[in-house]
Amino acid sequence: MEITITYNFFLFFLLHMCLKCHGCMDKERDALLQIKSSINSPQGTAFPRWYGDDCCQWEGVKCNPTTTRVIRISFQHKRDQSLPELWYPNATLFAQFKDLQELELPGNQIGGLISPNELARLKQLQKIDVHNNSIEVGSHLCWGKIPSLHFLDLSRNKLQGNIPKCLCENLHVKELSLSNNFLIGNIDACLRNMTSLEYLNLSHNSFNASFSLSHFANFSRLSYLDISWNSLEIETESITWIPSFNLSVLNLAACNLKIIPSFISSQRHLESLDLSYNALAGKIPSRVLDNVSKELQLRGNVFIGPFPKPFQNSSQLNGLDISDNCLSGSFPEDLGLNFPELHYLNASWNNFSGRLPPSFVAMKQLLFLELSGNQFHGEIPYGMTSNMSSLEYLGLSQNNLTGDALPENSSLPKLRWLYLHRNHFTGNFPDSLSKSMDLLLADIRETDMSGELSSYLHVLPQIRVLLLGGNNFEGQIPQQLCQMRHLQILDLSRNNLSGGIPKCIDNITSWTNEKPSLNFPREPWTTVELNFKGWSYTFSGSHVSHLYAIDISFNRLTGTIAVQMTQLDVIRSLNLSNNLLTGQIPVTFEKMISLESLDLSRNILSGKVSQELQTLTFLVVLNVSFNNLSGRLPFERQFATFDESSYLGNPGLCGRPLDKECDEVLEGPFFLLPNKDTTYTLLLPSLCASFFLCLEQNARV
Ligand SMILES: *[C@@H]1O[C@H](CO)[C@@H](O)[C@H](O)[C@H]1NC(C)=O
Ligand SMILES: *[C@@H]1O[C@H](CO)[C@@H](O)[C@H](O)[C@H]1NC(C)=O
Ligand SMILES: *[C@@H]1O[C@H](CO)[C@@H](O)[C@H](O)[C@H]1NC(C)=O
Ligand SMILES: *[C@@H]1O[C@H](CO)[C@@H](O)[C@H](O)[C@H]1NC(C)=O
Ligand SMILES: *[C@@H]1O[C@H](CO)[C@@H](O)[C@H](O)[C@H]1NC(C)=O
Ligand SMILES: *[C@@H]1O[C@H](CO)[C@@H](O)[C@H](O)[C@H]1NC(C)=O
Ligand SMILES: *[C@@H]1O[C@H](CO)[C@@H](O)[C@H](O)[C@H]1NC(C)=O
Ligand SMILES: *[C@@H]1O[C@H](CO)[C@@H](O)[C@H](O)[C@H]1NC(C)=O
Ligand SMILES: *[C@@H]1O[C@H](CO)[C@@H](O)[C@H](O)[C@H]1NC(C)=O
Ligand SMILES: *[C@@H]1O[C@H](CO)[C@@H](O)[C@H](O)[C@H]1NC(C)=O
Repeated sequence: MEITITYNFFLFFLLHMCLKCHGCMDKERDALLQIKSSINSPQGTAFPRWYGDDCCQWEGVKCNPTTTRVIRISFQHKRDQSLPELWYPNATLFAQFKDLQELELPGNQIGGLISPNELARLKQLQKIDVHNNSIEVGSHLCWGKIPSLHFLDLSRNKLQGNIPKCLCENLHVKELSLSNNFLIGNIDACLRNMTSLEYLNLSHNSFNASFSLSHFANFSRLSYLDISWNSLEIETESITWIPSFNLSVLNLAACNLKIIPSFISSQRHLESLDLSYNALAGKIPSRVLDNVSKELQLRGNVFIGPFPKPFQNSSQLNGLDISDNCLSGSFPEDLGLNFPELHYLNASWNNFSGRLPPSFVAMKQLLFLELSGNQFHGEIPYGMTSNMSSLEYLGLSQNNLTGDALPENSSLPKLRWLYLHRNHFTGNFPDSLSKSMDLLLADIRETDMSGELSSYLHVLPQIRVLLLGGNNFEGQIPQQLCQMRHLQILDLSRNNLSGGIPKCIDNITSWTNEKPSLNFPREPWTTVELNFKGWSYTFSGSHVSHLYAIDISFNRLTGTIAVQMTQLDVIRSLNLSNNLLTGQIPVTFEKMISLESLDLSRNILSGKVSQELQTLTFLVVLNVSFNNLSGRLPFERQFATFDESSYLGNPGLCGRPLDKECDEVLEGPFFLLPNKDTTYTLLLPSLCASFFLCLEQNARV
């Protein structure tokens, strides 16, 4: 009995609890529904799951469990992108949540807040995040003073003019980001009194009034400061200035600095320093290396002298970028010992010379090594490739390296990007690459490698971009390629390859399947230089992921153009020029509907340029010159844009755009209607004409 009573009581208690926990306040639920209908107004199609009583459970809503009041509203990309106008939410919508602490609305196509002063009623509001919207006018953000506001992210909007003064009244803000807007004028006038700031990001704007860092001298809590990429002249050497802050991150890239700011030496906790793209000259002082504990970027200055040496024997740096300077001399022998913690080293585009030191082997964590564009000579030391178990990126292009492209028995199991082009290697395709099963991109063009490619090329199962042009490879095009199913860009041009185009080429499913390939390396350092539409382009980052191209020009390939090749319907550029290909241009080219550039010039192709090719509506460059083609040219759609330069050196071709008229008796469409299966239907049954035609047909076979 007692047990039942207790049990009943317990049930009642539970029920009561649940009523309470389901009891999101009616008023706040109504307010949320108003937001919902406002987002895609007038349709109100956002948040299909915002229904039912307990709004605390709704996506993007968080309540205080005790009071059941909404304390956080957070959603992104909810505004329907297809609506022509921006969203101008009335701040009253949000002002109804008395206990709201965090308001996060990034990426919702907000053009501004209407009645922003309403937000000042929210005494608990700590965080406003409206980054990645389209707010242009500062007055849309004038909510007055919100004493509790600590965090304000307005980056990636379209703010113009000066920093809106009203924002600077929020004196307790600790984190402020205004980066990636169009702000102009000066920095300090407005921010001067915001001494609580710990994080300040003003990068990528158009601030143009010269500015002295000394204005921040009293910002004692400042720890992160980014003023990079403005049009500023920054004054750092004011005499009276003693910074009261200890920064952990300082980014002054592209700030027109001519000397390394001397206050940096007073910074004892600096983890990351970026002084890239300034006008810094002279030698790189050791003290900078010693001041920074993790990442130092000095790219794009005019530093001279040798590779910088840390004061202490060994630096703790994880990342060092000294690329694009005028540094010279050879690398220190004990480089690896000086920087044993490096993950990232970029010393490309300097004047370094001499041999590469084997001490790289001491950099056990190295992920990214870029030394292209120097004058290193000699062989790649075994120490650099023998046991680099972390290395994902190796760039040694445009040096004078000799010997094997990779030393024998190299082991680079994590390698994904390999740039070795323009060196003077000898020997075959590097055998040890077979251990790099994750390789995505290999650019080994113009390196003097030779040998029978098909005997040395292993199947690289993940490869997307394989560039082997401009070597002396011989033999057939390797069948192994057909098993590299993710291949997108292949360059075998300017070698000495012979034999036919492999019939298995349509096994490469990335060339026949429109699905964009997953996990394509979109990193900005994915760069590919490519002949495309007759010009040399450099593609990088995500632009490479949409490129599908085959260049096997300048070889000694024979046989006909394999029909299988014409099944590759995502290829955008095909270059088979300067080979010894014979036979006809397959009519099935009409299936290569993505083709923008087709170069079949300087082969021995015969037959006609079929009318069917007019289905190639993206084709902007066509070159079939210097073959043995004949007959009337197509001249509709894209073909009407090609001039005679596309057809030079084919005496048998006729019709527009050439001056030569077609022989009406034989070629005129009035007499002949070519059928798909190439049998001819005669409209005018003239014995003489058909006899002639037979002769002509036989002659071609
Ligand atoms: C914003 O909403 C409030 C309350 O609904 C209303 O009084 C005010 O007029 C609105 N502001 C504008 C500019 O529409
Ligand atoms: C900063 O504070 C001083 C003194 O409190 C005041 O006179 C000045 O107007 C303030 N400046 C700004 C830009 O708010
Ligand atoms: C920093 O504070 C000191 C002492 O409070 C004051 O004399 C100085 O003017 C302040 N500097 C700036 C730039 O506000
Ligand atoms: C900066 O760091 C130094 C050394 O650690 C310390 O003495 C000083 O108090 C710090 N200053 C501030 C404002 O934190
Ligand atoms: C620096 O290197 C030298 C020579 O290799 C050695 O004698 C010295 O002990 C090292 N100093 C430190 C602080 O590691
Ligand atoms: C490669 O490095 C690992 C540790 O990084 C080590 O255990 C192994 O012995 C090394 N192998 C060779 C051949 O040096
Ligand atoms: C190309 O290969 C053939 C043998 O297949 C050889 O006779 C010729 O010399 C090679 N040409 C060049 C430029 O290496
Ligand atoms: C191409 O694919 C076919 C069918 O999947 C297979 O039989 C053939 O062995 C493949 N050829 C090559 C060279 O991979
Ligand atoms: C084809 O490749 C050759 C060099 O191999 C180049 O000169 C030509 O411009 C390329 N054709 C097109 C259309 O890009
Ligand atoms: C060119 O084609 C014609 C037939 O159209 C053929 O008779 C002739 O032999 C070909 N010339 C060459 C060099 O292949």
